[in-house]
Amino acid sequence: MNEKKEDFQKTILSCIQPTGKLHLGRYFGAIQNWVSLQSKYDCFYGVVDYHALTMPFDPKKMRNRSWELVFDLIAAGLDPDNMFVQSLVPEHTELSWILSCMTSYGELSRMTQFKDKSQQSKETSKDAFISAGLYTYPVLQAADILVYRADYVPVGKDQEQHLELTRNIAQRFNHIVGKDYFQMPEPLFTEVPKVMSTADPEKKMSASLGPKHHIDVFEDPKVMAKQIRSAVTDSGDVQPGPMSPGVENLFQLLRASGNSQDAYDEMMVEYNAGSLQYGKLKTVVGEALVAMTEPMREKRREINQDKRTYKDRVRASSEVIRKVAQQTLAEVKDLVGLLNVRN
Ligand code: TRP
Repeated sequence: MNEKKEDFQKTILSCIQPTGKLHLGRYFGAIQNWVSLQSKYDCFYGVVDYHALTMPFDPKKMRNRSWELVFDLIAAGLDPDNMFVQSLVPEHTELSWILSCMTSYGELSRMTQFKDKSQQSKETSKDAFISAGLYTYPVLQAADILVYRADYVPVGKDQEQHLELTRNIAQRFNHIVGKDYFQMPEPLFTEVPKVMSTADPEKKMSASLGPKHHIDVFEDPKVMAKQIRSAVTDSGDVQPGPMSPGVENLFQLLRASGNSQDAYDEMMVEYNAGSLQYGKLKTVVGEALVAMTEPMREKRREINQDKRTYKDRVRASSEVIRKVAQQTLAEVKDLVGLLNVRN
Protein backbone atom coordinates (compact mmCIF):
# COMPACT_ATOMS: atom_id res chain seq x y z
CA MET A 1 0.00 0.00 0.00
CA ASN A 2 2.85 2.22 0.96
CA GLU A 3 4.58 1.70 -2.38
CA LYS A 4 1.52 2.40 -4.47
CA LYS A 5 1.19 5.92 -3.21
CA GLU A 6 2.87 8.71 -5.13
CA ASP A 7 5.41 10.54 -3.07
CA PHE A 8 3.32 13.71 -2.81
CA GLN A 9 0.41 11.67 -1.47
CA LYS A 10 2.45 10.32 1.38
CA THR A 11 1.43 11.25 4.83
CA ILE A 12 3.61 13.01 7.36
CA LEU A 13 2.79 13.10 11.02
CA SER A 14 4.59 14.74 13.86
CA CYS A 15 3.65 16.07 17.24
CA ILE A 16 4.87 18.50 19.84
CA GLN A 17 4.08 18.73 23.52
CA PRO A 18 2.61 21.96 24.89
CA THR A 19 5.21 22.24 27.62
CA GLY A 20 6.38 25.77 26.94
CA LYS A 21 6.84 28.47 24.39
CA LEU A 22 8.41 27.98 21.02
CA HIS A 23 12.11 28.67 21.44
CA LEU A 24 14.87 28.70 18.85
CA GLY A 25 15.98 25.16 19.75
CA ARG A 26 12.57 23.73 18.93
CA TYR A 27 12.17 25.96 15.90
CA PHE A 28 15.47 25.07 14.24
CA GLY A 29 15.40 21.50 15.50
CA ALA A 30 11.93 20.61 14.25
CA ILE A 31 9.38 23.22 13.26
CA GLN A 32 11.33 24.83 10.43
CA ASN A 33 11.52 21.40 8.83
CA TRP A 34 7.80 20.74 9.41
CA VAL A 35 7.03 24.00 7.62
CA SER A 36 9.01 23.04 4.54
CA LEU A 37 7.55 19.51 4.40
CA GLN A 38 4.09 21.03 3.97
CA SER A 39 4.74 21.83 0.32
CA LYS A 40 5.67 18.23 -0.49
CA TYR A 41 3.37 16.00 1.55
CA ASP A 42 0.03 15.63 3.18
CA CYS A 43 0.85 16.73 6.72
CA PHE A 44 -0.72 16.25 10.12
CA TYR A 45 0.80 18.20 12.98
CA GLY A 46 -0.47 17.73 16.50
CA VAL A 47 -0.20 19.67 19.70
CA VAL A 48 -0.31 16.69 22.01
CA ASP A 49 -1.78 17.77 25.31
CA TYR A 50 -2.47 14.23 26.56
CA HIS A 51 1.28 13.67 26.47
CA ALA A 52 1.82 16.76 28.58
CA LEU A 53 -0.15 15.14 31.42
CA THR A 54 2.58 12.55 31.92
CA MET A 55 4.69 14.93 34.01
CA PRO A 56 3.38 17.05 36.91
CA PHE A 57 1.23 19.83 35.46
CA ASP A 58 -0.99 22.72 36.45
CA PRO A 59 -4.59 22.24 35.24
CA LYS A 60 -5.14 25.99 35.27
CA LYS A 61 -2.37 26.51 32.75
CA MET A 62 -2.90 23.52 30.47
CA ARG A 63 -5.50 24.81 28.04
CA ASN A 64 -3.81 28.14 27.62
CA ARG A 65 -0.47 26.51 26.95
CA SER A 66 -1.95 24.38 24.20
CA TRP A 67 -3.53 27.37 22.49
CA GLU A 68 -0.46 29.54 22.83
CA LEU A 69 1.66 26.84 21.23
CA VAL A 70 -0.90 26.51 18.44
CA PHE A 71 -0.57 30.26 17.81
CA ASP A 72 3.22 30.06 17.95
CA LEU A 73 3.24 27.28 15.37
CA ILE A 74 0.92 29.14 13.01
CA ALA A 75 3.08 32.26 13.32
CA ALA A 76 6.13 30.11 12.58
CA GLY A 77 4.57 28.98 9.31
CA LEU A 78 2.39 25.92 9.92
CA ASP A 79 -0.84 25.88 7.97
CA PRO A 80 -3.77 25.76 10.45
CA ASP A 81 -5.45 23.23 8.12
CA ASN A 82 -2.68 20.76 8.90
CA MET A 83 -2.99 21.15 12.64
CA PHE A 84 -4.94 19.45 15.38
CA VAL A 85 -5.01 19.41 19.14
CA GLN A 86 -4.84 15.88 20.50
CA SER A 87 -7.63 16.22 23.06
CA LEU A 88 -10.00 17.17 20.23
CA VAL A 89 -9.32 13.78 18.62
CA PRO A 90 -10.18 11.21 21.31
CA GLU A 91 -9.40 8.32 18.96
CA HIS A 92 -5.72 8.68 19.89
CA THR A 93 -6.37 7.56 23.45
CA GLU A 94 -8.86 4.92 22.43
CA LEU A 95 -6.40 3.34 20.02
CA SER A 96 -3.70 3.68 22.63
CA TRP A 97 -5.55 1.32 24.97
CA ILE A 98 -5.86 -1.35 22.31
CA LEU A 99 -2.19 -1.02 21.38
CA SER A 100 -1.08 -1.06 25.01
CA CYS A 101 -2.51 -4.57 25.24
CA MET A 102 -0.21 -5.52 22.36
CA THR A 103 2.89 -4.02 23.96
CA SER A 104 4.93 -5.89 26.50
CA TYR A 105 6.01 -4.67 29.88
CA GLY A 106 9.58 -5.53 28.92
CA GLU A 107 9.50 -3.41 25.78
CA LEU A 108 8.34 -0.36 27.70
CA SER A 109 10.94 -0.95 30.41
CA ARG A 110 13.67 -0.62 27.82
CA MET A 111 12.63 2.89 26.72
CA THR A 112 15.56 5.14 27.54
CA GLN A 113 13.45 8.31 27.66
CA PHE A 114 11.37 6.79 30.46
CA LYS A 115 14.47 5.73 32.33
CA ASP A 116 16.03 9.19 31.94
CA LYS A 117 12.93 11.15 32.87
CA SER A 118 12.02 9.04 35.87
CA GLN A 119 15.62 9.11 37.04
CA GLN A 120 15.75 12.91 36.70
CA SER A 121 12.55 13.27 38.71
CA LYS A 122 13.93 11.05 41.46
CA GLU A 123 17.12 13.08 41.56
CA THR A 124 15.13 16.28 41.96
CA SER A 125 12.96 14.84 44.69
CA LYS A 126 13.28 11.55 46.54
CA ASP A 127 9.55 10.90 46.58
CA ALA A 128 8.85 12.20 43.08
CA PHE A 129 5.61 11.00 41.54
CA ILE A 130 6.36 8.83 38.50
CA SER A 131 3.07 8.34 36.69
CA ALA A 132 2.02 5.19 34.87
CA GLY A 133 1.31 7.58 31.99
CA LEU A 134 5.00 8.42 31.72
CA TYR A 135 5.67 4.72 31.43
CA THR A 136 3.02 3.96 28.81
CA TYR A 137 3.46 7.18 26.88
CA PRO A 138 5.34 5.54 23.97
CA VAL A 139 2.17 3.56 23.25
CA LEU A 140 0.18 6.78 22.99
CA GLN A 141 2.87 8.03 20.62
CA ALA A 142 2.47 4.87 18.53
CA ALA A 143 -1.27 5.53 18.45
CA ASP A 144 -0.66 9.14 17.32
CA ILE A 145 1.24 7.80 14.35
CA LEU A 146 -0.82 4.74 13.45
CA VAL A 147 -4.23 6.40 13.80
CA TYR A 148 -3.34 8.43 10.66
CA ARG A 149 -1.54 5.52 8.98
CA ALA A 150 1.39 7.89 8.59
CA ASP A 151 4.15 7.05 6.11
CA TYR A 152 6.82 9.33 7.51
CA VAL A 153 7.47 10.73 10.93
CA PRO A 154 9.98 13.59 11.14
CA VAL A 155 11.63 13.22 14.52
CA GLY A 156 14.93 13.79 16.24
CA LYS A 157 17.32 10.98 17.10
CA ASP A 158 15.98 11.02 20.67
CA GLN A 159 12.72 9.60 19.33
CA GLU A 160 14.26 6.81 17.26
CA GLN A 161 13.54 4.18 19.90
CA HIS A 162 9.88 5.20 20.13
CA LEU A 163 9.58 4.89 16.35
CA GLU A 164 11.12 1.45 16.46
CA LEU A 165 8.60 0.48 19.14
CA THR A 166 5.77 1.84 16.99
CA ARG A 167 6.85 -0.43 14.16
CA ASN A 168 7.01 -3.42 16.48
CA ILE A 169 3.55 -2.69 17.82
CA ALA A 170 2.18 -2.29 14.28
CA GLN A 171 3.73 -5.59 13.29
CA ARG A 172 2.32 -7.34 16.32
CA PHE A 173 -1.11 -5.89 15.61
CA ASN A 174 -0.96 -7.17 12.02
CA HIS A 175 0.10 -10.58 13.27
CA ILE A 176 -2.68 -10.80 15.86
CA VAL A 177 -5.45 -9.77 13.48
CA GLY A 178 -3.95 -11.81 10.66
CA LYS A 179 -3.89 -8.96 8.17
CA ASP A 180 -1.33 -6.48 6.89
CA TYR A 181 -3.42 -3.61 8.14
CA PHE A 182 -0.83 -1.11 9.34
CA GLN A 183 2.01 -0.22 7.05
CA MET A 184 5.30 0.47 8.77
CA PRO A 185 5.85 4.18 9.46
CA GLU A 186 9.35 5.39 8.70
CA PRO A 187 11.27 7.97 10.65
CA LEU A 188 12.43 10.97 8.67
CA PHE A 189 15.73 12.17 10.02
CA THR A 190 16.56 15.48 8.46
CA GLU A 191 19.83 17.23 9.06
CA VAL A 192 18.84 20.08 11.37
CA PRO A 193 20.96 22.55 13.29
CA LYS A 194 21.49 21.53 16.87
CA VAL A 195 21.07 24.57 19.04
CA MET A 196 22.57 24.67 22.51
CA SER A 197 21.72 26.79 25.53
CA THR A 198 23.55 30.11 25.29
CA ALA A 199 24.00 30.06 29.08
CA ASP A 200 25.38 26.52 29.17
CA PRO A 201 26.49 25.53 25.66
CA GLU A 202 27.18 21.95 26.73
CA LYS A 203 23.42 21.41 27.04
CA LYS A 204 20.71 21.38 24.40
CA MET A 205 18.56 24.52 24.39
CA SER A 206 15.49 23.61 26.39
CA ALA A 207 12.73 25.34 28.29
CA SER A 208 13.05 22.97 31.22
CA LEU A 209 16.55 24.21 32.05
CA GLY A 210 15.20 27.64 33.04
CA PRO A 211 14.66 31.07 31.47
CA LYS A 212 18.32 31.83 30.78
CA HIS A 213 18.68 28.69 28.73
CA HIS A 214 16.30 29.33 25.88
CA ILE A 215 15.48 32.15 23.50
CA ASP A 216 11.85 32.58 22.57
CA VAL A 217 11.27 32.85 18.81
CA PHE A 218 8.91 35.78 19.40
CA GLU A 219 11.14 37.54 21.90
CA ASP A 220 11.38 41.31 21.83
CA PRO A 221 14.32 42.17 19.50
CA LYS A 222 16.20 44.06 22.20
CA VAL A 223 15.90 41.20 24.66
CA MET A 224 16.87 38.70 21.99
CA ALA A 225 20.00 40.65 21.09
CA LYS A 226 20.83 40.97 24.77
CA GLN A 227 20.48 37.24 25.34
CA ILE A 228 22.95 36.64 22.54
CA ARG A 229 25.31 39.28 23.93
CA SER A 230 25.42 37.45 27.23
CA ALA A 231 26.09 34.06 25.63
CA VAL A 232 28.87 32.05 27.23
CA THR A 233 31.93 31.76 24.97
CA ASP A 234 35.55 31.28 26.03
CA SER A 235 38.33 33.59 27.08
CA GLY A 236 39.04 34.57 23.50
CA ASP A 237 42.59 33.20 23.45
CA VAL A 238 41.81 30.90 20.60
CA GLN A 239 43.77 27.72 21.08
CA PRO A 240 44.48 25.24 18.32
CA GLY A 241 42.00 22.38 18.40
CA PRO A 242 38.23 22.22 18.36
CA MET A 243 36.13 25.34 18.78
CA SER A 244 34.67 25.87 22.24
CA PRO A 245 30.98 24.81 22.48
CA GLY A 246 29.77 28.37 23.10
CA VAL A 247 31.48 29.80 20.02
CA GLU A 248 30.41 26.86 17.92
CA ASN A 249 26.83 27.45 19.02
CA LEU A 250 27.00 31.09 17.92
CA PHE A 251 28.28 30.00 14.51
CA GLN A 252 25.50 27.41 14.30
CA LEU A 253 22.90 30.04 15.10
CA LEU A 254 24.36 32.35 12.49
CA ARG A 255 24.20 29.69 9.81
CA ALA A 256 20.71 28.62 10.88
CA SER A 257 19.37 32.14 10.68
CA GLY A 258 19.84 31.96 6.88
CA ASN A 259 20.88 34.68 4.43
CA SER A 260 24.03 35.33 6.39
CA GLN A 261 26.50 33.11 4.57
CA ASP A 262 28.81 36.03 3.82
CA ALA A 263 28.87 37.13 7.43
CA TYR A 264 29.45 33.52 8.46
CA ASP A 265 32.40 33.11 6.11
CA GLU A 266 33.90 36.41 7.15
CA MET A 267 33.66 35.57 10.88
CA MET A 268 35.11 32.14 10.26
CA VAL A 269 38.13 33.60 8.47
CA GLU A 270 38.70 35.93 11.41
CA TYR A 271 38.24 33.09 13.86
CA ASN A 272 40.79 30.96 12.07
CA ALA A 273 43.20 33.89 11.98
CA GLY A 274 42.72 34.24 15.74
CA SER A 275 41.52 37.81 15.38
CA LEU A 276 37.79 37.39 15.91
CA GLN A 277 36.21 39.60 18.55
CA TYR A 278 33.38 37.68 20.14
CA GLY A 279 31.51 40.93 20.77
CA LYS A 280 31.33 41.46 17.03
CA LEU A 281 30.25 37.87 16.40
CA LYS A 282 27.46 38.26 18.97
CA THR A 283 26.23 41.48 17.38
CA VAL A 284 26.06 39.83 13.97
CA VAL A 285 24.30 36.73 15.33
CA GLY A 286 21.82 38.84 17.29
CA GLU A 287 20.99 40.94 14.22
CA ALA A 288 20.60 37.89 12.00
CA LEU A 289 18.22 36.21 14.46
CA VAL A 290 16.17 39.35 14.97
CA ALA A 291 15.82 39.76 11.20
CA MET A 292 14.87 36.12 10.69
CA THR A 293 12.20 36.16 13.39
CA GLU A 294 10.71 39.55 12.46
CA PRO A 295 8.01 38.20 10.08
CA MET A 296 7.05 35.61 12.70
CA ARG A 297 6.76 38.27 15.40
CA GLU A 298 4.59 40.26 13.03
CA LYS A 299 2.30 37.29 12.33
CA ARG A 300 2.13 36.49 16.05
CA ARG A 301 0.97 40.06 16.77
CA GLU A 302 -1.71 39.68 14.13
CA ILE A 303 -2.89 36.41 15.72
CA ASN A 304 -2.95 38.06 19.14
CA GLN A 305 -5.48 40.55 17.80
CA ASP A 306 -7.80 37.79 16.72
CA LYS A 307 -7.24 34.67 18.78
CA ARG A 308 -10.85 33.56 18.50
CA THR A 309 -10.63 33.20 14.71
CA TYR A 310 -7.48 31.12 14.92
CA LYS A 311 -8.91 28.91 17.65
CA ASP A 312 -11.98 28.31 15.52
CA ARG A 313 -9.82 27.41 12.54
CA VAL A 314 -7.85 24.82 14.47
CA ARG A 315 -10.99 23.41 16.08
CA ALA A 316 -12.41 23.02 12.56
CA SER A 317 -9.26 21.41 11.16
CA SER A 318 -9.15 19.06 14.16
CA GLU A 319 -12.68 17.99 13.24
CA VAL A 320 -11.68 17.31 9.63
CA ILE A 321 -8.53 15.45 10.68
CA ARG A 322 -10.57 13.48 13.21
CA LYS A 323 -12.47 11.84 10.35
CA VAL A 324 -9.29 10.01 9.34
CA ALA A 325 -8.76 8.84 12.91
CA GLN A 326 -12.37 7.71 13.23
CA GLN A 327 -12.10 5.65 10.08
CA THR A 328 -8.96 3.89 11.36
CA LEU A 329 -10.49 3.25 14.74
CA ALA A 330 -13.66 1.73 13.29
CA GLU A 331 -11.54 -0.63 11.17
CA VAL A 332 -9.27 -1.49 14.10
CA LYS A 333 -12.21 -2.29 16.37
CA ASP A 334 -13.66 -4.53 13.70
CA LEU A 335 -10.37 -6.34 13.21
CA VAL A 336 -9.83 -6.83 16.93
CA GLY A 337 -13.37 -8.07 17.54
CA LEU A 338 -14.67 -5.15 19.54
CA LEU A 339 -18.19 -3.90 19.06
CA ASN A 340 -19.13 -1.11 16.74
CA VAL A 341 -22.56 0.42 16.28
CA ARG A 342 -22.93 -1.73 13.18
CA ASN A 343 -21.96 -5.12 14.59
N1 TRP B 1 7.37 12.09 22.09
C1 TRP B 1 7.62 13.26 21.28
C2 TRP B 1 8.55 14.20 22.03
O1 TRP B 1 8.69 14.10 23.24
C3 TRP B 1 6.35 13.98 20.94
C4 TRP B 1 5.40 13.11 20.22
C5 TRP B 1 4.23 12.62 20.70
C6 TRP B 1 5.53 12.65 18.88
N2 TRP B 1 3.60 11.91 19.76
C7 TRP B 1 4.35 11.88 18.63
C8 TRP B 1 6.49 12.81 17.87
C9 TRP B 1 4.15 11.26 17.41
C10 TRP B 1 6.27 12.18 16.64
C11 TRP B 1 5.12 11.41 16.42
O2 TRP B 1 9.15 15.05 21.41
